[in-house]
Parts: sequence; C-alpha cells; structure tokens
Amino acid sequence: MTRYEQIKAELLASPKTWLVTGVAGFIGSNILEHLLKLNQKVVGLDNFATGHQHNLDEVQGLVTEEQWQGFNFIKGDIRNYEDCVKAISNNSNNVDYVLHQAALGSVPRSIADPVTTNAANITGFLNMLQAAKEANVKSFTYAASSSTYGDHPALPKVEENIGNPLSPYAVTKYVNELYAGVYARTYGFKTIGLRYFNVFGQRQDPNGAYAAVIPKWTADMIKGEDVFINGDGETSRDFCFIENTVQMNILAATASDEAKDEVYNVAVGDRTTLNDLYKSIQKALKEYNVKVFHDPKYRDFRAGDVRHSQADVSKARAQLGYFPEFSIMEGIHKAMSWYTN
Ligand SMILES: NC(=O)c1ccc[n+]([C@@H]2O[C@H](COP(=O)([O-])OP(=O)(O)OC[C@H]3O[C@@H](n4cnc5c(N)ncnc54)[C@H](O)[C@@H]3O)[C@@H](O)[C@H]2O)c1
Repeated sequence: MTRYEQIKAELLASPKTWLVTGVAGFIGSNILEHLLKLNQKVVGLDNFATGHQHNLDEVQGLVTEEQWQGFNFIKGDIRNYEDCVKAISNNSNNVDYVLHQAALGSVPRSIADPVTTNAANITGFLNMLQAAKEANVKSFTYAASSSTYGDHPALPKVEENIGNPLSPYAVTKYVNELYAGVYARTYGFKTIGLRYFNVFGQRQDPNGAYAAVIPKWTADMIKGEDVFINGDGETSRDFCFIENTVQMNILAATASDEAKDEVYNVAVGDRTTLNDLYKSIQKALKEYNVKVFHDPKYRDFRAGDVRHSQADVSKARAQLGYFPEFSIMEGIHKAMSWYTN
C-alpha cells in the first residue's frame, strides 16, 4: 500500500476539515473534488479573480449531495486579512489543514502588472500564513513554483539549488518561501511549499491572454485556429497532470513534523519540448475526432520564460511517499477527453 492509499483510507475513516484557497480555480477545484469524494469537510475561499463559479458547479455534479453539503464557500479576498480569518475560524468545524492555492498565476501577467500580482501573491500569502498560525492549524501547505529556479542552469532541478528570478511572478513565489522559513524560525510554525512544474488537466482555463500552453493550444486546435509556439519549440517543461498535484497536497498536509519547513518539487521528472507537446496533443485529439492538419506557427521567445525545466522528485518520494500516478501522455488523454466534452 502506498502512503497516499494509506492516508486516503485514514481520511475516509476519520474525516477532517480543510481550507482550500483559490478553490474556484483550476488546481483548487480539483483538490476540492478529491477531498469531497473522500467525505471531507471543505471551506473554500475565492474572489473569482481568475476562478469561475462553473468550476464549482462542475464539482457539485461530480460528488453526491451529501458530500456537497460538506462544502462551505466563502467569497472573499486574501488581500483582506479579515477574510482570511473568517475562512479559518468562522465556521462550525475548526480547520485542520490549509491548502493555500490562491494567487495570480502567469509570468506575462506579472510582467504587465507587477503591483497587482504582488498584492495577491505576497500580501495575500502573508495574510493567509498569519491567520493560519493564529488559528493553530495542524498544517499549512502552499503553492510555490518552479519559476523559483530562475536562471539556474542545472537539470534536473533539485530543491536547494536556485538561481535569480526571471519575472515579478517568480519573485513573489520565492518571497512566499522566505516568509515560510521565517515563520518556522520565528514562531515555530512549520509549513510545506510545493514547487509546481506546469500543472495541466481538467478545468484549466483555456481562455484569456494568460492561459497556459496546454489548454490554450487544445482550445485553438479544437476551434481550427492557428497555434503559436514561442521560440523554436525546443523549450522544454516537466508537465505534471493535475492528479499528481492533488496527491502531493494531501501527502504534504498530513506529513510528519520532520518533513515540514521544506519545499518539494511537484512534477513527474520528465521533460517534453513544445514541439513534442504539439504532436502529442494533435495525436490525442485525433482519438476524439478532432483532426489538426496544419503546422504550428513560430514566433519570438517570450520574456521571462526559462529555457528548460525538469524536476528531480526524489525528495518528495523519500520524505512524503510521493509516487506520480500519471505520465504526461496519460494526463493528456484524460485532459483531452474533458476539453472535447
Ligand atoms: N498551474 C500551474 O502550472 C502552476 C504552476 C506553478 C504554481 N502554480 C500556483 O498554483 C496556484 C493555483 O494555480 P491555478 O493554476 O489553479 O490558477 P487559477 O488561476 O486557476 O487559480 C487561482 C485561484 O485563486 C483565486 N484568487 C486569485 N487572487 C485571489 C485573491 N486575492 N483572493 C482570493 N482568491 C484569489 C482565483 O480567483 C483563482 O480561482 C497558484 O498559487 C499558482 O501560482 C500553478
């Protein structure tokens, strides 16, 4: 039995209360779905900056009525400390575990508007961290980012070797880690940061100027529109299917004290170029009767993007019992089934 299977069995036997911030977003709504299916109580906080009510509606349709009764949604903003306190303490059950996902994602968004990204990602983060410490929760797990590796050239990325950040977004995510370290040293409040590497899957938003590559390309291919590759297509990423990310959140929240005050890579440990990704999506869509005949169009490299990214996930495996269940191709098939539906 893996640690994940064991923890899920324990949670089913003895349900807990979770706070998921950013619950109406891509990752948050997938965490919500998994927790409700495990009969957990979930408080969700979101201001719908980039999240959607339709993500919550979809989750409602995927769980039983009784499981949905375990969800309490609070519309609020992590930039307001009072909203964070309300989400943690103003409910009948005390929150056991916090999974902090709310933030403004996207490197280009942060380059266009660093001030707004800073407010959500640094002030909002600090508010949540402080509220969680004051409420004495059992654990606080937060969404960090592979962008923290910045210009460090080594591959695969190991947690202790980071370079200079290449965007305002990367700065904000690194500052989260710095605050987390200070809270451990100053207050003894130990957290876990999860450095996500290009997460993808169902409910990832294909719309808007800051959509991530897989949903954006998939939507463009389905609509028969041009697909643009930034650069020569040899830029590579460690694409990670959402269910691996959900697993890491549950493993981190329930980790022992020795595994805390740490950051962990969340990825598969593989590297896929954009050129290969294009072909994989094209091939997978064919199975859902979406035929893409034209070739991608190449344009300039995008500012702030790192050239290659691949994670070493051995720390997560050794200390949290992480075992990624889905390869990129398995994930792409699952995601395509959702996008074509
Ligand atoms: N998707 C990825 O590949 C990836 C990679 C690295 C890190 N991350 C991090 O993972 C987390 C979740 O990302 P996602 O991909 O689900 O993005 P998302 O945009 O789908 O979800 C983020 C959610 O946070 C909410 N939010 C934003 N600002 C808020 C505020 N001030 N108050 C309350 N809620 C607010 C949004 O409305 C949204 O629902 C973010 O912290 C992001 O930086 C994601």
